[in-house]
Amino acid sequence: MKGIVIYQSKYGATSQYAQWVAEALDLPFVNRESVTPLMVAGNDLIIVGTPLYVGKLLIAKWLEENAGLLGEKKVLLFIVCGSACDDPVLQQQVINNNFGHVLSKYAGIFFVPGRCSPPHLSWIDRLLLKIGAWREKDPERKKAMKEGFDKMGRENLYQLLARARELMNEGKHEEVQYVG
Ligand SMILES: Cc1cc2nc3c(=O)[nH]c(=O)nc-3n(C[C@H](O)[C@H](O)[C@H](O)COP(=O)(O)O)c2cc1C
Repeated sequence: MKGIVIYQSKYGATSQYAQWVAEALDLPFVNRESVTPLMVAGNDLIIVGTPLYVGKLLIAKWLEENAGLLGEKKVLLFIVCGSACDDPVLQQQVINNNFGHVLSKYAGIFFVPGRCSPPHLSWIDRLLLKIGAWREKDPERKKAMKEGFDKMGRENLYQLLARARELMNEGKHEEVQYVG
């Protein structure tokens, strides 16, 4: 089964995860900006990585534009984020608010913790984060929004990689049956 990792990232956390996923599964990884329709069409397994910004998937527009093509594929989505990572209610809201009807057809959606370093953000992102921190009630999340956080780690990809391997194995069986 042919596969590809497609990602979009603003400050590097998602591209780091995309690279780790690609290495673990021996697949190519490509920035969304360089992806052509042929690349999507030519693969059976599409692993998409995106960060979450103010409740929105950074790659949402691309997912919507390519919904037709992706509908014929096995798609895994990983969402790199902060507080949404350990909040199932928030996660469901994220799915519902980002073309939930399209996302519900995917073979798996995984939330993985990323990183955020306020001094390295654009002024607009720093401002958005300050507003978020001001509105946040939970003290731990408020602190993370003010001071930043780094929860990056290959171990966060365990479930995603397990699901990807499962799909790749299913693909192998299908190929064998077809040949036989
Ligand atoms: C302005 C801003 C808004 C964010 N909004 C959210 C959010 O709504 N939910 C969440 O869980 N994380 C949020 N985050 C955290 C990012 O998703 C996290 O830092 C991620 O690792 C960024 O990935 P990237 O480096 O690939 O761009 C936000 C971060 C910033 C700077």
